[in-house]
Amino acid sequence: MKILVTGATGGVGRLVVDELLAAGATDIRALTVNPAKAGLPDGVEVVRGFLGRPETLPAALAGVDRMYLAPLIETNARTCRLAAEAGVRRIVDMAGAKGDHWQAIEDGVEECGVPFVHLEPGEFMTNSGIWSAQIAAGDVVRDGYGSAANAPIAVEDIATVAARCLLEDGHEGHSYELTGPESLTRRERVDRIGAALGRELTYVDLPHEELVEQLSEAMGEYARWYADGLAQLAEHPQVALPTVAELTGHPATTFAAWARANTAMFE
Ligand SMILES: NC(=O)c1ccc[n+]([C@@H]2O[C@H](COP(=O)([O-])OP(=O)(O)OC[C@H]3O[C@@H](n4cnc5c(N)ncnc54)[C@H](OP(=O)(O)O)[C@@H]3O)[C@@H](O)[C@H]2O)c1
Repeated sequence: MKILVTGATGGVGRLVVDELLAAGATDIRALTVNPAKAGLPDGVEVVRGFLGRPETLPAALAGVDRMYLAPLIETNARTCRLAAEAGVRRIVDMAGAKGDHWQAIEDGVEECGVPFVHLEPGEFMTNSGIWSAQIAAGDVVRDGYGSAANAPIAVEDIATVAARCLLEDGHEGHSYELTGPESLTRRERVDRIGAALGRELTYVDLPHEELVEQLSEAMGEYARWYADGLAQLAEHPQVALPTVAELTGHPATTFAAWARANTAMFE
């Protein structure tokens, strides 16, 4: 059974490759723009291509039974049609919450007629890297909506779930909403990073417009959307779901454990 992993050097896709290998998969093909730089493990067939250039995909899709689909909205519908034409028999896509701007990914997958599993992660723990520079520079994090709470997920857990959905039967047609194991406020996340570093960090709430301005540097046009989302979360915290533990058989990674494993990001 040949499995194609797209976005194979990305935050999730690279880990999907590792998880598939660890689970004993022997016929893995990885799609990357530059095979020479990809640094993919031995035993993985590395092919050149990019989801953003669908003309590169037919060769990569030839002979593929199942694929992990990274989210690239612009070309997604075409990618999915090509997968169907190539005879792919299962797509495991990873995008985001239903009804959000990632909906186009799930729509394209369903329209192409290939049996699917939808993975719908919330915020990634790695997004906490947004505080890296401030924490490296001092003990104060100036951000917004410290009381906004959600349940961020470790990309490792998304990859574990993806590998299982690629390899196991019984998942087709399911949508899995994925979160970390606990809902935490942003202030609590910063506290846990501080604990991992052995430092006491202080979270300072910026007014909304100042926050938008600060976020614009990193997020450009998405800054206001992100800040508005935080305002929503302050009113309506995201609840943690048990999906990762149910699907993998072990507890999802806690934010404290993630912080301990990623102190280098904040030093
Ligand atoms: N951060 C969050 O909280 C969150 C939550 C839900 C969903 N998401 C979505 O998850 C995705 C991130 O997942 P991921 O880290 O596994 O990465 P990805 O977007 O699934 O894959 C990134 C890979 O695509 C390839 N690529 C080639 N050219 C590219 C280009 N011009 N632009 C972008 N990618 C290019 C790169 O691999 P090669 O160079 O090897 O080809 C890169 O490593 C994003 O689409 C994001 O919207 C994020």
